[in-house]
Amino acid sequence: MNVAILGFGVVGSGVAEVIKNNCKSIEENSNVSLKVTRILDIRDFPESEYKDILTKSFDDILTDDSIDIVVETMGGVSPAFSFVSECLKKGKHVVSSNKELVATKGYELLALARENNVNFLFEASVGGGIPIIRPISRCLAGNKINEVAGILNGTSNFILTKMIVDGMSFDEALKLAQDKGYAEKDPTADVEGLDAMRKICILASLCFGSHVYPDGVYSEGISKITLEDVAYAASYDSVIKLIARAKKIGGDKALVMVSPCLVKNSSMLSGVNGVFNACLVRGDMVGDVLMYGQGAGSLATASAVVGDVIDCAANDKERKFFGWGDKKEGYLADYLDCETILYVRAESADKAAIEKAFGSVEYLTRENQPANEIAFITAAAKEKDLRCALEKAGINALSVIKVSDY
Ligand code: HSE
Repeated sequence: MNVAILGFGVVGSGVAEVIKNNCKSIEENSNVSLKVTRILDIRDFPESEYKDILTKSFDDILTDDSIDIVVETMGGVSPAFSFVSECLKKGKHVVSSNKELVATKGYELLALARENNVNFLFEASVGGGIPIIRPISRCLAGNKINEVAGILNGTSNFILTKMIVDGMSFDEALKLAQDKGYAEKDPTADVEGLDAMRKICILASLCFGSHVYPDGVYSEGISKITLEDVAYAASYDSVIKLIARAKKIGGDKALVMVSPCLVKNSSMLSGVNGVFNACLVRGDMVGDVLMYGQGAGSLATASAVVGDVIDCAANDKERKFFGWGDKKEGYLADYLDCETILYVRAESADKAAIEKAFGSVEYLTRENQPANEIAFITAAAKEKDLRCALEKAGINALSVIKVSDY
């Protein structure tokens, strides 16, 4: 089957390489024959072995009836959304690695795929090379999934790992992440939680059945985490991780959010280090399942893309039953109304004021703790009430971080 690739960047070039290197074993194992026949990119690649099939014209792909499957690895919503829509309307299957596109336009594109009797698949949009979407929608289909949580951004996990293991400051660790090519020059989407937030929107939509759009989803990043917080977390037998989570709560509501969390060392998520990602799915029958692996990178992500391409090729004449419904008004819960436990680090706060505001708390200590610094863990309560208690007690909080129950 002929495949076209939109976007010859890190992932797109990886897709061409995986198909070239493994086309024989793919044919042996899956009985499908794949060939990349067109690649779209606005840039020139005069040295590339693919130079003869590179084009700058999207029409060369859209109007080519020999192309059955289009891979979208451009990133961003525009022009990816219109290109993908056009391909689906033309009866071409589309495979995308683009989390921003799926998080913001997934419902529309799935509907368009259904209308045109083709597939729109996006395994690589969450967790790079880790199989997550298909295991949730297929292997765990016998479960009701009420909760999913994960470490879904490799760059921020690398930075936190360097802070925890090597004692680097946030700025030093970010610089190293940039030098190693993990973080973008503008690392905002990675370190401020936006990238993880788009991914958890996709997982929440898939697990709970209604599209969760990124606007309105609370997201907090790791840029304010300090080595002092890391040290207090260690004294609580925990590490700090950027956790993206989605949880069904009372009535027909869901809590979907991203924030740094203290994660106990006994948790399956605590040992996920460096650029690795992990996704924990809580099924009512299976219990907790952890999917772990490389969440980014050219060949790892391309591996997931090509898995989808093979699925499209193997199911060329039938559409897979896959997708979710439109968003529901009032469906997203406000995190401030939900119960949590907080870690607080404060300056010049006395224990009497803390205990008056919070009742009993667990105090933490660290090496070289200044006399005017105090850190404690609250009991579980609505976050709104805990924030209110902080304010009432006049506590000058330097850090407030949620404590995870995963
Ligand atoms: N910037 C992302 C990360 C790449 O660091 O995880 C994969 O989506």
